[in-house]
Amino acid sequence: MEAIAVIVNGKQQRITAPPDEPLLWVLRDQLQLTGTKYGCGEGHCGACTVLLEGKPVRSCLTQVAAAAGKHVITVEGLEQNGTLHPVQQAFLREEAFQCGYCTSGMILSAVALLGSNRTPTEEEIVHAMSGNICRCGTYPRIVAAVREAAQATKG
Ligand code: FES
Ligand code: FES
Repeated sequence: MEAIAVIVNGKQQRITAPPDEPLLWVLRDQLQLTGTKYGCGEGHCGACTVLLEGKPVRSCLTQVAAAAGKHVITVEGLEQNGTLHPVQQAFLREEAFQCGYCTSGMILSAVALLGSNRTPTEEEIVHAMSGNICRCGTYPRIVAAVREAAQATKG
């Protein structure tokens, strides 16, 4: 098994795993980045969402080989110098979670949205977040948090 180099949260990592190992298990089991959650394991729920080269991907369906030489961001990599990302801050202010299981995936989808569209409409927010399931039904507060984060990062 050859080592696979992946840049995770800005740090070069050498992963020893079969190339088809899901990125989710590498993140959680090898790198102890357990903020990324296992929900359905089939690409349906979004709990395992991370950013690969800035784009949201389902890490349960992404083979680690697909991340070779690329940048992966997990929820642990969003804070900078002890300051939470504006999307994280907005989720906290809006209390946009109950159990919190979907939260890291939601936050990463929102970060990706605001990375490509700084002023999303309500419909665009709902559309961008529609692949992430919240079993607690916190959707209105999640949408409010994304709207607030967009306002905060606009200027
Ligand atoms: S665990 Fe990956 S989409 Fe549900
Ligand atoms: S807060 Fe529980 S699944 Fe979303």
